[in-house]
Amino acid sequence: MPLEIAGRAVGRIGYGTMQLAGPKAMGGPADPERAKAAVRAAAGAGIRLIDTSGYYGPEVANRLLAEALRPYPDDLLIATKVGARRTPDGGFAADAAPEAVKAAVRDNLAQLGVERLPLVHARFMPDSTVPWADTVGALAELRDEGLLEHVGVSNVTVDLLNQARAVTPIASVENEYHFGHTGGRDVLDATTAAGIPYLAYRPLGNGALAGAGSPLAEPARQLGVSAATLALAWLLGLADNVAVIPGTSNPAHLADLLAAQDLTLPSGFVPDEA
Ligand SMILES: NC(=O)c1ccc[n+]([C@@H]2O[C@H](COP(=O)([O-])OP(=O)(O)OC[C@H]3O[C@@H](n4cnc5c(N)ncnc54)[C@H](OP(=O)(O)O)[C@@H]3O)[C@@H](O)[C@H]2O)c1
Repeated sequence: MPLEIAGRAVGRIGYGTMQLAGPKAMGGPADPERAKAAVRAAAGAGIRLIDTSGYYGPEVANRLLAEALRPYPDDLLIATKVGARRTPDGGFAADAAPEAVKAAVRDNLAQLGVERLPLVHARFMPDSTVPWADTVGALAELRDEGLLEHVGVSNVTVDLLNQARAVTPIASVENEYHFGHTGGRDVLDATTAAGIPYLAYRPLGNGALAGAGSPLAEPARQLGVSAATLALAWLLGLADNVAVIPGTSNPAHLADLLAAQDLTLPSGFVPDEA
């Protein structure tokens, strides 16, 4: 069943571009043509939810996405994020002042080659000194000016979600959630109760849940599926408002990811969380 996010009916298996930006999501991929081929394969396989950000690379992931897919399919939902910047050591730092957030939206527009962004997440950064309501409010202002359609939030607690909802309607929440990281279940439950789509990021535990050493390898074998498929199906089974945004640079891995939408876990088959 598709999930409606930001006014579009998209499948619950999305695609994240972070891996395309090179090691540690900085600098660029060793093989840009292969990276573009991965994005085209994802879109060609029917994926209509793509998560990206101007700070992947920086700029690299957005530009590869644009080169790979423009003109974009009409029904494609590109979700992007602002509120952080890369640091030279490969980390992230807050960049959440209203002017910085607005500049980042304009950068995303230019990099992606669109006039309006369908969905922009304000990424909460614990080191931010800017009131969270001001960061979210800056996106609401740009929405009212027509530069974006919907405001989402990322890396939030229930309290931060509620603060954001007091500023403006929130179209989606993007938080880390996977079989090896189940903290923040209260946020997932809050979105389910409020009817807000929840985008589970890093759904394969950055690859740890997908390989031979995955804690899901044996239960996946019993089901006759790959560990990656089980990792995503487990997430989709948590609640109907969950979508997942795995990343892959390997088109051959897409079939395993998409298979999760057709896998219903047998009743009582819930592996213990790692
Ligand atoms: N909002 C935020 O703050 C935030 C933070 C982090 C990430 N994200 C989003 O979440 C997305 C996904 O996160 P992620 O890329 O860190 O981690 P992930 O999706 O959990 O895992 C990606 C890793 O899994 C491997 N993989 C994918 N499919 C596989 C398969 N079928 N079999 C075996 N291995 C497989 C990939 O390798 P191959 O390339 O070889 O397939 C890659 O190394 C990002 O692209 C980004 O959009 C958001």
